[in-house]
Amino acid sequence: MKRLGVLLCAAMLAGAARYEAQGPESEAFTQPIEGLDANHAASFSKGSGIFRQAWIIGPSQDHPDFVGLGPLYNRLSCIACHVKNGRGAAPDSENGVARTMAARLSVEGRDAHGGPRPHPNYGAQLNPEGVLGVAGEGQAVVDYAEFDVAFSDGERITLRRPTLSYRNLAYGPLGLETKTSLRNAPPVFGLGLLESVSDAEIFAGRGRPNFVFNFETRRKSLGRFGLKANQPNLKQQIANAFMEDIGVTSSLFPAENCAATLGQCRSGASKPELADAQLDAVVTYISALAPPARRNLEDRPVKDGELLFRAIGCSECHRDTLHVAEFSLQPALNGVAIHPYTDLLLHDMGEGLADGREDFDSGPRDWRTPPLWGLGLAGKGGDGANFLHDGRARTPAEAILWHGGEAQSSADAFRSLPEPQRQALLAFLNSL
Ligand code: HEC
Ligand code: HEC
Repeated sequence: MKRLGVLLCAAMLAGAARYEAQGPESEAFTQPIEGLDANHAASFSKGSGIFRQAWIIGPSQDHPDFVGLGPLYNRLSCIACHVKNGRGAAPDSENGVARTMAARLSVEGRDAHGGPRPHPNYGAQLNPEGVLGVAGEGQAVVDYAEFDVAFSDGERITLRRPTLSYRNLAYGPLGLETKTSLRNAPPVFGLGLLESVSDAEIFAGRGRPNFVFNFETRRKSLGRFGLKANQPNLKQQIANAFMEDIGVTSSLFPAENCAATLGQCRSGASKPELADAQLDAVVTYISALAPPARRNLEDRPVKDGELLFRAIGCSECHRDTLHVAEFSLQPALNGVAIHPYTDLLLHDMGEGLADGREDFDSGPRDWRTPPLWGLGLAGKGGDGANFLHDGRARTPAEAILWHGGEAQSSADAFRSLPEPQRQALLAFLNSL
């Protein structure tokens, strides 16, 4: 108790307890928040193992706890898409198969909970792989059309616009009315801190909230996770990932991801395939992953860039400061200011970024502002360095130039900045 008192005091004297990870760049996204107690630390390392684990069909004597893959799935493990806990790598060649991405599918109307209505044959997401005897559904393929954009001072930059097509569709045509949304795997660190921000502080932002179905409370609540803020909390987001991406059922999502009419629904494993203790461990793991500390704070361009970031309206959506309301994994962080550069709310980003697909209250041109912390380290540890929901942007500058809709004036201001100021803004982003 005395020791805890001393620690708390030290934290208060320092202004705030530290929530950011220090350490080598290549491991920047894999560090826990400091000072987890022994139980949470044990759960963190167990969850880390499960996040990396390749699931199998089973039965197995060697890996009895990781049985239940499929019948349909995208990848064998979480880490296969969330490379090094960072972004997935969007295909960079023409006709590239989207391997770290999910192609969401739906048809007109809503499901029983008010969410998108899954495709009758292919479900809510295209699953390229099937277990032995079950055909994978097919692959999502990305093509790019390149075009140039000029800054006001004449310098040019090449953007690439993706188009999505399909190969080897095994269960019939998708149909012209099918709505699709291609999404690259986003980073998974810092999310526990974002979950701990109060609803009230989020509502104070300028964007629009999504209200989504919460499978535990059986009612609608504020959406925070997923690229359209379509999941209310980490537990549901993670259980849903196990089901949709790996075909592993849990107490929250006990039904296999398959279309019974197509005879895909077989699985040798007992139900649910993911034990509650395993789900809890992965939730603890993701919740406790720290965002990396900022770098080069004292550089002149970084400081100038931060002022420009505010001056041209970036921080209207990428809010620099939110507060931890209550963080059960590390109570010393309660009340602390964090700097994620997101409002966790939806914004109309214009036709250029639109996927044309609704998700609860999120419209066809809406996306949730992504956090920008860790941006400058993207790609440093072998993770993908692709930005925006479908990874079309190869640099932060490309990402900014795609901003339209509510962010149009901000993007125009960026395009008009003289070269040194543009570089300063990018230096600031690189310091995050
Ligand atoms: C096929 C690639 C793929 C696999 C495998 C995968 N994910 Fe994801 N993950 C995604 C994509 C794409 C999104 C964005 C989802 C959306 O917006 O619909 C996402 C979103 C998330 C998020 C929310 C991030 C945020 O900022 O809101 C978490 C947490 C997450 N995944 C955890 C997991 C876990 C845990 C597993 C393993 C059970 C997993 N993922 C497996 C691709 C994948
Ligand atoms: C109206 C709200 C809004 C404003 C203003 C805004 N952004 Fe964004 N920003 C977003 C949203 C929403 C996305 C995600 C869009 C997508 O994925 O298609 C995004 C994406 C990004 C990304 C890519 C992040 C990633 O992880 O993929 C960067 C970088 C970025 N913004 C920087 C900026 C900068 C710099 C400015 C100011 C010039 C700015 N934004 C202004 C809402 C905004």
